Amino acid sequence: MERQWWHSSVVYQIYPRSFNDSNGDGIGDINGIREKLDYLKELGIDVIWLSPVYKSPNDDNGYDISDYCDIMDEFGTMEDMDNLLKEANERGIKILMDLVVNHTSDEHKWFIEAKKSKDNEYRDYYIWRDPVDGHEPNDLGSTFSGSAWQYDETTGQYYLHLFSKKQPDLNWENENVRSEVYKMMNFWVDKGIGGFRMDVIDLIGKVPDEMITGNGPKLHEYLQEMNKAALEGNDLLTVGETWGATPEVAKLYSNPERKELSMVFQFEHIGLDQIEGKEKWDLKELELLDLKKVLSKWQTELEGQGWNSLFWNNHDLPRIVSRWGNDKEYRVLSAKMFATLLHGMKGTPYIYQGEELGMTNVKFEDINEYNDIESLNMYKDRLSKGYTHDEIMESIYAKGRDNARTPMQWDSTENAGFTTGTPWIAVNKNYNEINAKQCLQDENSIFHHYRKLIDIRKNNDTIIYGDYSLLCPEDKNIFAYTRELNGDKILVVCNFYDKEVTFSFDGEFNHADILLSNYKDSSTLIEKLNLRPYEAIMFRIK
Ligand code: NOJ
Repeated sequence: MERQWWHSSVVYQIYPRSFNDSNGDGIGDINGIREKLDYLKELGIDVIWLSPVYKSPNDDNGYDISDYCDIMDEFGTMEDMDNLLKEANERGIKILMDLVVNHTSDEHKWFIEAKKSKDNEYRDYYIWRDPVDGHEPNDLGSTFSGSAWQYDETTGQYYLHLFSKKQPDLNWENENVRSEVYKMMNFWVDKGIGGFRMDVIDLIGKVPDEMITGNGPKLHEYLQEMNKAALEGNDLLTVGETWGATPEVAKLYSNPERKELSMVFQFEHIGLDQIEGKEKWDLKELELLDLKKVLSKWQTELEGQGWNSLFWNNHDLPRIVSRWGNDKEYRVLSAKMFATLLHGMKGTPYIYQGEELGMTNVKFEDINEYNDIESLNMYKDRLSKGYTHDEIMESIYAKGRDNARTPMQWDSTENAGFTTGTPWIAVNKNYNEINAKQCLQDENSIFHHYRKLIDIRKNNDTIIYGDYSLLCPEDKNIFAYTRELNGDKILVVCNFYDKEVTFSFDGEFNHADILLSNYKDSSTLIEKLNLRPYEAIMFRIK
């Protein structure tokens, strides 16, 4: 496969509202990000994925955009944004903008016009249907609970919103919608961005009358058109958020010959701790064997025909160390284990803010302390269906999106150094123990483990391009694999739990050197290796 700059890059996701507040209003902002660019440089990342900073009434924290070419007041100005781009570029860091074009805000000028009358020139920018027998056109549901159809009194029709009712879906069948989107993308490309993360991009080909939402028939046609109109020739990283992607579908998006996207986020591993066929709130324990199977399938099936993204976390997901690791006595060890496991794989790794500190989930007692529309709507919905408060809170503690959205923990001063004002959402109480200042000072911290992994990746083509093979597929405690390129071999061995286990390598080798371990005194006797709790070692074997 032809080399691309983003094959060897590591991306860091910033959720601006929670990253760093420069002006004391309790809300993170663009100038706050500028203050932390040197911190990111020290970590060694190459790219920032910036969650939305555009004008927005914040029904879904910026994923409801009212003007794609302007900046949210709380976050700063376009001048601040231009400065951020310039200062990031000076440090060799590219910025990916979040492209949210499945829907706009209901406060976007297109929608304000569209809802005025049935013959308004913007009417067809959105998806309107007549009532059927006085009801919603069909049973399509919103991700944020309830029907996906909202009745509009003025014109007597329903409009579609797959997310909140303040996020009306755009009608991609309309050529004008598509060309407006491409024009807007070019506005940002011309500013010198490094690419786009594309929000729920697999929904743009929807056929709501046939109940088709993801992977609609014209999805790839639109993406190829988008590529020609806004991406081609600009050497960008593009990553699509595609909840419904299988490896077959991911190859359609990311096979370079098809000229669509660089890669997609697949979510198959993310669904492994929910009861099949139910919602994300319906919890079950993760089985390591399932995780090994799924991640290994993605590693091998995209080989030569597409490119993987690698992630545990983002702003919609609980913190990995709390989710599948141990956020108590083994917090540091298990966070490093997850880092090693992921960063040894083939693909482009994404780090979500605070993951490099081992930040944990949060448990607010009162539902009113939560901010996220998804959790709040689900709370009401499930209460009305007879679930108890405690049952619902268990789900929110495990899966609620606010787990990822508590403020970044910079130091042990008030509000974790995030703001001098009152933070928009409470800071996790553990900031005295878990914060960036402490991590930077401690050579053995999770931060420095990530930094070393990024450095190892940059200096080892085997990690970027080597073939992947899963070892001991039936072992219920150990996740181990090799990567191999032109005779160079890297072995990654991880104990996934807190019990001691033994690993045996039965391939040929003369000796093994440790590239990185989360224990100071790991053994190199890989033919019979005793692994302590969460021990994770990356070897070069010869
Ligand atoms: C996916 C985003 O990651 C999420 O935060 C948002 O709520 C939905 N798309 C709707 O834009």
